[in-house]
Amino acid sequence: METIGVKKNKEGEIWAIGGGKGGTGKTFITSSMGTYLAGKGKRIVLIDVDIGGANLHSFLGISRPKKSLSFFFEKGVPLSKLALKTGIGDMYLISGDIHSLASDSIKFTQKLKLFRHILKLNKQYVLIDLGGGSHKNTIDTFLIADKMIVVLEPEIIAIENMYHFIKNSLFRKLKMSLRSYGFKEIVEYMWESREKYKINNLNELIECLKNSFSHIGDILDKELSDFKIYLILNKVRSSQDIIIGSSIKSIFMKYLGVEAQFVGYLEYDNTIWRSIRERKPFMMNYGTSRSAKEIGTFTENILQGREIKHSRS
Ligand SMILES: Nc1ncnc2c1ncn2[C@@H]1O[C@H](COP(=O)(O)OP(=O)(O)O)[C@@H](O)[C@H]1O
Ligand SMILES: [Mg+2]
Repeated sequence: METIGVKKNKEGEIWAIGGGKGGTGKTFITSSMGTYLAGKGKRIVLIDVDIGGANLHSFLGISRPKKSLSFFFEKGVPLSKLALKTGIGDMYLISGDIHSLASDSIKFTQKLKLFRHILKLNKQYVLIDLGGGSHKNTIDTFLIADKMIVVLEPEIIAIENMYHFIKNSLFRKLKMSLRSYGFKEIVEYMWESREKYKINNLNELIECLKNSFSHIGDILDKELSDFKIYLILNKVRSSQDIIIGSSIKSIFMKYLGVEAQFVGYLEYDNTIWRSIRERKPFMMNYGTSRSAKEIGTFTENILQGREIKHSRS
């Protein structure tokens, strides 16, 4: 797959965690999935690219690291040289800072260089904590991932934010893949004039493009099937909440034409925020708790590319 000019030809797998608004639990879940995978003996690197709020280290019980991504952007230090030992299995951390990726001061060429370095990291799993928001750089980083993971709270604003993020990501992916066929402007024009064409959503835009230009149908189908979204529902308080996972799947299919995987949920658990406040890695200290089991379950589901067992679609 090619996204903004970076080709993938590596063995490791990249997971990007993003899409939700702030506070949904992305960073906690990134650190916990990493710890779970490290416990299985996997070689992991976690990368923190959160805007202005780089705090992944705190979830691992590490004080603010001296080396961070700004060394890469400002001093040209190779990414692999910025990886710090976490003390948890074979897991490393590349810390972020205020010079975040989701900033206009990061130039296009720097972004491409970062992606090339990420793709070259010699690890089995690279987990990227993206933070919130729909900045173009955030979306492009999301799109280089093999597995695009969204952490969602069962709450209307979080759902709306996530939907916009995914819609914008898909639109950018389609535009970028059609660019080399000379279709980028046509896609943009059709979307901007969607009222005239009676297009209500991305799914209808895609259908309209396929009907008008049959030779790009296969490209669009491939892009859609490559667009793999994994949904995690966090801070669940009731069984009603869990149903939201399945509803979102249906919404993705209907309005975006995308097949999302609802991989699991994590209940609201006071032990989690307490352990974070005490700067103790949750999965190390409460590894046998129900929450830790839930984290293990959805991480396994992501690994295997399967859904939560009792999910209804
Ligand atoms: N399942 C949960 N139950 C209770 N508190 C949680 C849970 N998941 C996350 N939290 C709390 O929510 C806060 C925000 O989580 P964080 O991972 O920083 O969110 P984000 O990275 O999405 O902004 C954490 O400090 C933690 O206290
Ligand atoms: Mg965060």
